[in-house]
Amino acid sequence: MVIAKTIKHVRKIIFAAKQKNKTIGFVPTMGALHYGHLSLVRAARKNCDFVVVSIFINPTQFGPKEDFRKYPRQFNQDKRLLEIEKVDLVFYPSAAEMYLKDSSTYIKEVYLSEPLCGSTRPGHFRGVCTVVAKLFNIIEPDIAYFGQKDYQQARVVKRMVRDLNFPVKIKIFPTLRERSGLAMSSRNAYLDQKARGDALVLFESLKLAKKLVKEGERDPKKIINKIRKLIISIKNAKIDYVKIVDVENLRPVDKIKAKVAVVLAVYIGKIRLIDNVLVDANSN
Ligand code: PAJ
Repeated sequence: MVIAKTIKHVRKIIFAAKQKNKTIGFVPTMGALHYGHLSLVRAARKNCDFVVVSIFINPTQFGPKEDFRKYPRQFNQDKRLLEIEKVDLVFYPSAAEMYLKDSSTYIKEVYLSEPLCGSTRPGHFRGVCTVVAKLFNIIEPDIAYFGQKDYQQARVVKRMVRDLNFPVKIKIFPTLRERSGLAMSSRNAYLDQKARGDALVLFESLKLAKKLVKEGERDPKKIINKIRKLIISIKNAKIDYVKIVDVENLRPVDKIKAKVAVVLAVYIGKIRLIDNVLVDANSN
């Protein structure tokens, strides 16, 4: 496994792999790897000849009051995990390598980025799109792997790739959960034992939504109200948003007719967690 810290080094290795006609699979990450990340790496390993993982805590996607500084950093452990998964290349650049001081070009997707996390994290998806576009230009993957855990992010990236004709296929894989149901996330490292218990309310909320739809409820407002009540019952939890949206345009639906996404963002103490589930009114 090669660890490359410079763009030049990555390009050299990718050039050699492409000359051997290898298909390149790419998993972008911010490190502090868990099994959710590794499930994407395994999918890439299964489908592609040459697997690249990037570890880069992208400053441009964090707001000024967000957790950029304290975001977990554990490169040595990440390296060991990726070695076990037989990754070919790890791109581990510095911020200075990725962004020149006078860098002044950004990519902004303006429709799918607007609601949900986009409304409470202004600039977040602009940062995500910009870094993902840069990584695609540096690595030139055939297939890139994203998690459904960040549903809006995956949709936004897919839209950017479509609109800007990036020659890459985006694949989205299901959310990996701990045995308790808590969605795996690097940010779970911030939670103490009590907060971990409180955080189960996210999955409980999604399970409740699924159950209500299965029982025939088609009014999103009623479902959202019940979820809100459940979340408010946890003293340490504060709702950022709870929405039931169209899976394509990410806008709220009036009635649950087909496939919808139940999406939520909840603060457990100061830690903001997100989760979602897709529900199909016709097949539940
Ligand atoms: P990060 O949060 O490290 O996540 C990297 C990838 O892992 C994303 O595609 C995310 O959706 C996926 N992932 C996270 N938790 C998961 C889980 N429990 N199950 C399955 N997949 C999961 O998302 C980012 O980094 C960044 O925004 C990035 C795309 C790297 C751009 O900076």
